[in-house]
Amino acid sequence: MRVSLHAKQSEAFLSHATELLYGGAAGGGKSFLLRVSGIRWCLEVPGIQVYLFRRTHPDLRANHLRGPGNLHELLAPLAGAGQVAWREQQAEFRFASGSVLKLAHLQHETDVARYQGAEIHVLLIDELTHFSEAQYRFLRSRVRRAGLKVPVRHAGLLPRIECASNPGSVGHAWVKAAWVAPAEPGRVWRARPEEGGMRRQYIPARLADNPTLLAQDPEYLERLSGLGAPELVRALRDGDWDIAAGQALELFDRQRHVLAPFAVPAHWPRFRALDWGSSKPFSVGWWAVAGGAPLPGGASLPGGACLPAGALVRYREWYGWDGRPDRGLRLTSTQVAQGILAREKGEKIAYGVADPAIFGQHDGPSVAEHMAAAGVILRRAANNRKAGYQEVRRRLEGEDGRPMLYVFSSCLDGFLRTVPELPLDPADPEDVDSAAEDHAYDETRYACMSRPQAPARATANPAADRWHQAFCEKETIGWKTA
Ligand SMILES: Nc1ncnc2c1ncn2[C@@H]1O[C@H](COP(=O)(O)OP(=O)(O)OP(=O)(O)O)[C@@H](O)[C@H]1O
Ligand SMILES: [Mg+2]
Repeated sequence: MRVSLHAKQSEAFLSHATELLYGGAAGGGKSFLLRVSGIRWCLEVPGIQVYLFRRTHPDLRANHLRGPGNLHELLAPLAGAGQVAWREQQAEFRFASGSVLKLAHLQHETDVARYQGAEIHVLLIDELTHFSEAQYRFLRSRVRRAGLKVPVRHAGLLPRIECASNPGSVGHAWVKAAWVAPAEPGRVWRARPEEGGMRRQYIPARLADNPTLLAQDPEYLERLSGLGAPELVRALRDGDWDIAAGQALELFDRQRHVLAPFAVPAHWPRFRALDWGSSKPFSVGWWAVAGGAPLPGGASLPGGACLPAGALVRYREWYGWDGRPDRGLRLTSTQVAQGILAREKGEKIAYGVADPAIFGQHDGPSVAEHMAAAGVILRRAANNRKAGYQEVRRRLEGEDGRPMLYVFSSCLDGFLRTVPELPLDPADPEDVDSAAEDHAYDETRYACMSRPQAPARATANPAADRWHQAFCEKETIGWKTA
């Protein structure tokens, strides 16, 4: 059997993660990779039990037993040599070494009962977003090493789970939350014990990463682009996970708005924004105002080396959650103030804005007063929700095709996890649903409203950015422009 994998497929094939998600775009070579991987484990580890799942039986067969590069085709040379045989009744390939590659499906939630006693050494799941989280958790609980002798060169790699998926089906939200949102693509990290404690990794694959398909069917890309709804095109063509029907900030696009962190030039004004929370998360964002000149060291940014003058850059965040959606850390206002100062470590912060609620006095000093006493001065943010929503949208859209709001890729817990998928208010299409986890968004809104976008001509010229300077200097506690 001779197979050569494309670069992204090889990255996944060689990954040392034990709970892998490969995918994103349609046609990125996902199903092919899972087949090759399954065969590889069967050949390299005698006696191994590999399960390849799809949600439904017809999809399973159509995808993996028919069509170019199907399992029969890939295994034909081995079958000819008597090394492997297909057993229709059991829906499995049995290898002479005792290894088994089993094809399985879980159409209904209750079908999990069929796999109650299964012992899975390698779990392969194709189109993971077709599965519910409960089904996945069940299958993961069946993954164990018992009785398997693992060759030294694969020590630590078994048992394992390899999944592949496009964004956008019933399981979109949980798959995104488990693999895509918590870490930068490609990074291997350990999931918490209650999440299985395995080494997780997301390797994005785009259509462009599968030269076979592009060579065989050059018009495929155009057909995808002709899907109609722009979100759907972005999901299937680019493997963009930030899609959901009724998204409030559908303008947000990681390719345009997310920057790899760089050293923020000292002369860019900085400020902070806060949305307070205790049993709910709080969100602190640190923002810099781009100065318009190229970055020192020629750091490269999407669309050129220079951010538009006046653009806001979220260069750091502190999101006060306990790792579970919409659950806060329950810190006191003084503890949060101390945490803020510790993160600023001598930075010159021009001013701070916060949600007006923290200035309310009930029985004794307000949250804002406690924070001021600890050294964090904040002023009331403008809190007109609709005006704020429009302001955030205007900045995401930007001017002359260049956004006026950017986020460092390190802002994973708050902004990048929660903001892209915030839903619209079902009762008001001009506002974000305030029942959703909207703390990083609210804080972003306060930040944007603290510097409503100046007209294009004024911001295009760094020398004319006096409005910003005047504004900052007025609010400054010991801050000066360079
Ligand atoms: N390394 C490879 N060598 C040869 N053919 C390949 C390779 N990778 C993928 N292909 C072929 O490219 C086509 C698309 O690949 P595949 O079906 O794996 O993509 P996919 O990401 O699963 O697509 P979909 O999103 O439609 O499920 C298939 O015909 C497959 O056999
Ligand atoms: Mg596929």
